[in-house]
Amino acid sequence: MVQEGLPRETANMLFIFHKNVGVLVLLVVLARLAYRFFNPAPPLPAGINPLQKRISHVSHALLYVLLIAMPILGYTRVKAGGFPIEYLDAMGIPALVPRSEALADAAQTAHFVGGLLLAALIAAHVGAALLHGIILRDGVFRRMWFGTGAH
Ligand code: HEM
Ligand code: HEM
Repeated sequence: MVQEGLPRETANMLFIFHKNVGVLVLLVVLARLAYRFFNPAPPLPAGINPLQKRISHVSHALLYVLLIAMPILGYTRVKAGGFPIEYLDAMGIPALVPRSEALADAAQTAHFVGGLLLAALIAAHVGAALLHGIILRDGVFRRMWFGTGAH
């Protein structure tokens, strides 16, 4: 999307996809958190030490924080910069942030840094999931599936 030399139509298509699906990600994550609030996760398998538990909780919380912050920052970057978000505009939803180049620039920088952090966190998260699923086989991996929390 942001690569130099990409044909204009391809970049535009990717921008439109990124912006509009990005806003949907926010709604899906909020719905997920609401569900999670009323449906707590099953207990972790015994054998997981307190430090590991702490690291896993902190990293999941950070994943949620970034999955909420990224769409808000992207939205702010685009709307404060005076650009469209096509389907929100088509529904007549007004910009929720003021038009400001300074705000757009700050949001752009934070969106860029947040993207790097999220990528690093996802890599660590998937690595940990695979470690549990393939090497330790301690039941943590199965917790992703319906009602199969290991005890
Ligand atoms: C979970 C949601 C999102 C994630 C993970 C995400 C991630 C990213 C990443 C990794 C980049 C590349 C940064 C770079 O190399 O410059 C980027 C760029 C961009 N994103 Fe997002 N994004 C999300 C949501 C959004 C939303 C909702 C919008 C706007 C409505 C948006 C607008 C943009 C724009 C305009 C760029 C181009 C860079 C710029 O000019 O600011 N993003 N995003
Ligand atoms: C190959 C891909 C992935 C695998 C195998 C995987 C695996 C898992 C597993 C096993 C858990 C449960 C851990 C536990 O209960 O302690 C989990 C939780 C979680 N994963 Fe992933 N994950 C993957 C990708 C992702 C990605 C890409 C994201 C974010 C963009 C993500 C976000 C989360 C979050 C937020 C939780 C905590 C859920 C909660 O307790 O509410 N995962 N994942």
